[in-house]
Amino acid sequence: MTNKADRMAWLRGGNAHCANPPNPPPGAPWRLVLLGAPGVGKGTQADLLCSRLGACHLSTGDILRAAACMDGERTPALETALASMKAGALVSDETILELVGERGRCLRCCGGFVLDGFPRTVAQAEALSTFLEREGVVLDAVFSYELPIDEIVSRLAGRRVCPKCKAVYHTAMQPPTRPGICDACGTALIQREDDKPETIRTRMRVYQESTQPLLEWYAQRGLLIQVPAFGTPEQIYVRTWTCGRTAPDAFKPSSPSSAAPAAGGGAPALLARHP
Ligand code: AP5
Repeated sequence: MTNKADRMAWLRGGNAHCANPPNPPPGAPWRLVLLGAPGVGKGTQADLLCSRLGACHLSTGDILRAAACMDGERTPALETALASMKAGALVSDETILELVGERGRCLRCCGGFVLDGFPRTVAQAEALSTFLEREGVVLDAVFSYELPIDEIVSRLAGRRVCPKCKAVYHTAMQPPTRPGICDACGTALIQREDDKPETIRTRMRVYQESTQPLLEWYAQRGLLIQVPAFGTPEQIYVRTWTCGRTAPDAFKPSSPSSAAPAAGGGAPALLARHP
């Protein structure tokens, strides 16, 4: 499953430009945040949402992994960030906010965005809210994906990723056509360093402590939509919009359009196009 946009502006920051600019459907762009424990399937849903909404998949984990692969000297802050990541701990709010701040234009992009892995702490959510408010950008919804821990661990254990195009597979549930080879670009797939059992345990604990409080933070602001994450990626995608339509007072698109899956009238139209 690949994201069509090359996301260079997001992955590299600085003056990097995306080779293929966003191609959103007519109407207002979508701005969504995805929450959920490590391995619950946020990245998989982000790819599905982006390919159908024309938005861009913005993952802070992908920024860090891209930085780890880049040539050149690393700053001490980046070295510390990569060590935290390898251990399954959170990277400091300061470093993450600096990385996202350098990429502020991606949050203003006319194609919209699906944020995955950011924000992860209440401090990050507050900073994002301040930035978006200043830019006049409104979040449409925050989806939180939920699944029992045993199932999540099995998803993580079987995950394989393409180091080149970032496509994500699962050895049993979403295998590539040729074992170990990326369908999209032919590169050999790898296992993420932080998908080892002991690191997974740390990541789960960190999620409970730091990211769970975000659920309440967004619920208080009427943005949180909880989505059970069992079933196939496609089933979860459809459920995402069903939960969006039925959540009381939760789903308030900033500027509903006929092309976008909005509360009430818009969502059934999208579901009809993507059953
Ligand atoms: P990050 O890259 O954000 O990882 P994560 O949140 O731990 O989430 P994952 O990418 O592991 O899982 P996912 O939910 O996207 O699942 P996926 O779709 O791949 O962060 C990594 C690290 O970076 C952090 O630990 C931290 O150190 C640092 N970091 C990043 N952002 C930070 C921030 N804001 N602040 C501080 N630190 C930060 O799916 C998993 C597997 O399941 C795949 O194999 C997939 O094919 C499979 N799968 C997906 N859906 C299904 C399904 N429905 N059925 C069966 N299999 C499925």
